Amino acid sequence: MRILHVASEATGLVKTGGLADVAAGLARAQRDAGDDVRLLMPAYRGCAELADATVRHPLGDPLGGGPTRLLEGRLPGTDVPVWLVDAPTLYDRDGGPYLDPHGNDYPDNPLRFALLGRVAAMLSTAGPALGWAPEVVHAHDWQASIAPATLHWWGGVRPGTVTTVHNLKFQGRFSPEVVSQVGLPAAAYALEGAEAYGTFSFLKAGLFYSDRITTVSPTYAEEIQSETGGEGLHGLLRSRSNRLHGLLNGIDEGAWDPRSDSDLHAAFGPRSLGPRAANKRALQRHFGLDEERGVPLVGLVSRLSDQKGIDLLLAAIPQLLRSPLQLVVLGSGDPLLEEALRDLARQHPTRVGVNIGYDEALSHQVFAGSDLFVVPSRFEPCGLTQMYAMRYGALPVVRNTGGLADTVTDVSAGGCGFTFEAVDADALREAMHRALEVYADGDRWTRLQLQAMQRSFGWGNAAGGYRDVYSAAIADASST
Ligand code: ADP
Ligand code: GLC
Repeated sequence: MRILHVASEATGLVKTGGLADVAAGLARAQRDAGDDVRLLMPAYRGCAELADATVRHPLGDPLGGGPTRLLEGRLPGTDVPVWLVDAPTLYDRDGGPYLDPHGNDYPDNPLRFALLGRVAAMLSTAGPALGWAPEVVHAHDWQASIAPATLHWWGGVRPGTVTTVHNLKFQGRFSPEVVSQVGLPAAAYALEGAEAYGTFSFLKAGLFYSDRITTVSPTYAEEIQSETGGEGLHGLLRSRSNRLHGLLNGIDEGAWDPRSDSDLHAAFGPRSLGPRAANKRALQRHFGLDEERGVPLVGLVSRLSDQKGIDLLLAAIPQLLRSPLQLVVLGSGDPLLEEALRDLARQHPTRVGVNIGYDEALSHQVFAGSDLFVVPSRFEPCGLTQMYAMRYGALPVVRNTGGLADTVTDVSAGGCGFTFEAVDADALREAMHRALEVYADGDRWTRLQLQAMQRSFGWGNAAGGYRDVYSAAIADASST
C-alpha cells in the first residue's frame, strides 16, 4: 500500500514527545512489512542535513507564506523516505517546531501547519509529476489536519484519509479568519465543518473531513466520546463512532532494547539481568544520590504538564520519603512544576535527583537504572514511557486511564505493574506502598521484572489494525 504519513515531528529529525516516536516507528514498521511508505514533515532548521535531503520539486508559493520546495531524503538510521516541505520563511528558525526560544507559540502557526497539510494534498493529486501518489494520507494530530480537509474540498479522485488523535487536548484553535489563510473555502467554517465554539479548529477539520479517525489506545477511544474526556468534541466523535478506531501504539523494539542500547552503562536482558545493577549505580552517581544497592529507585521521564499528574507525585512524595526511597526526574515544561521539583531535590540532595531539560540518552539510562517508574497521568492517550520502562525492567506505577490502562495490569490481577484509580495523592501513595512491599521480596520482584521485560510491545498488532483502517478509508473515499 502507498502510505503518506503527515506529521509535525519524527524521531531522528525532531522530537518533543511521543508523537515523534510513533510517526517514525509506525512508518518504519510498515516499510519493513513491505508497504511503500513516505513521511512528510516541515523542513525545520537542520532537518534537511539530518535527512541528507536533496531538492526534488519546486512547489511555488501555495498559501502565500513564501517560496516552497519539496526535498527528499531518508529518516536517519532507517530506509524510510522523508519528504520535507522547505519554506524557509516559515520553518528555518531558532526554537522548536511549535515554540520560539522564549517558549511562546509562533504567531504564524496556523499558516505554518496549514502549509504542511496543503502540500500533502498537493502531492496526493500531483502524483504523475512526482511519479508517486499515496493511496492513503495519514494525518497525525492538528498540525496535519488541513490535509484531509483540503482533499475533501478539492473533491474528485482522491486518496483515503485518516486522522489520528494523539492528544485531544491540543486542537489548534484560532480565530475564524484563518479559514481563508489555510486555503479552505469560507463554508468550511461551519458547525458541520471546522467551527468549534466560535473558533476555527484544525483538529475538528481533521476529525470532520477524514474518512476514518484513529486514536492511540482502545480505552482513550472510549474516553474521548464522553463529556469528561471529549474536550468539547465528544458529540462529533460519538456521531462518527463507527469511523473511530482505537489502535494501541507500539514501540520500536529495535531502538529500545537493553541488550544493544548504546546509551546504557551496561547491556542486560531477560537472560542476563545481573548487569542491570551497574545502570542503577551509574544513575545514582549521575544524580549525586547515595549509591546504595538495596534502596528502591523511582524514575520519572516526562513533559511537566497538568496532563502528567506531576502535582500528585509532589503531594505524595514527602510521606513516601519517610521510608527508604530515591527519586530521579528528567523533564521540562511548566515552570512552576520545574521549580517545585528543583526545591524537592534541594531538600533531599542525596535522595532526590532532578534534571530539568530534554536528554534522550539520559532518558534511556533512567529506564535502565530505576526499579520503579511512575506515570500518574490525569489522562493519557497512550503513553510510551511505561512500555519503555517495562522493557528495561522497571516496574510501572500508573493511573488506570487511557493507554496506561491498556498496557499495565496490576500485580493483583496477574500483571507486573501497580495501578491506581483516583486522581489524588493518597491513591498514588497507596499504589507506591504496595510496590515497595513487593520490592522487599527480591525473588518475587525479579520474577515480575522478567515478566515485564518479556512482554511484546512491537508494532506488529497495530500495523495490522492500520492496514484494515486504511482499506476502509480507501473504500470510503471512492464511494464519496
Ligand atoms: P507525551 O507524548 O504525552 O509526552 P509519551 O509517553 O507518549 O508522552 O511520549 C513521551 C516521549 O518523550 C517518550 O519517548 C519519553 O521518553 C520522551 N521524553 C519526555 N520527556 C523527556 C525528557 N525530558 N528527556 C528525554 N526524553 C523525554
Ligand atoms: C501524545 C499523548 C501520548 C501518546 C503520544 C503518541 O503525545 O499524550 O499519550 O503516547 O501522543 O501517540
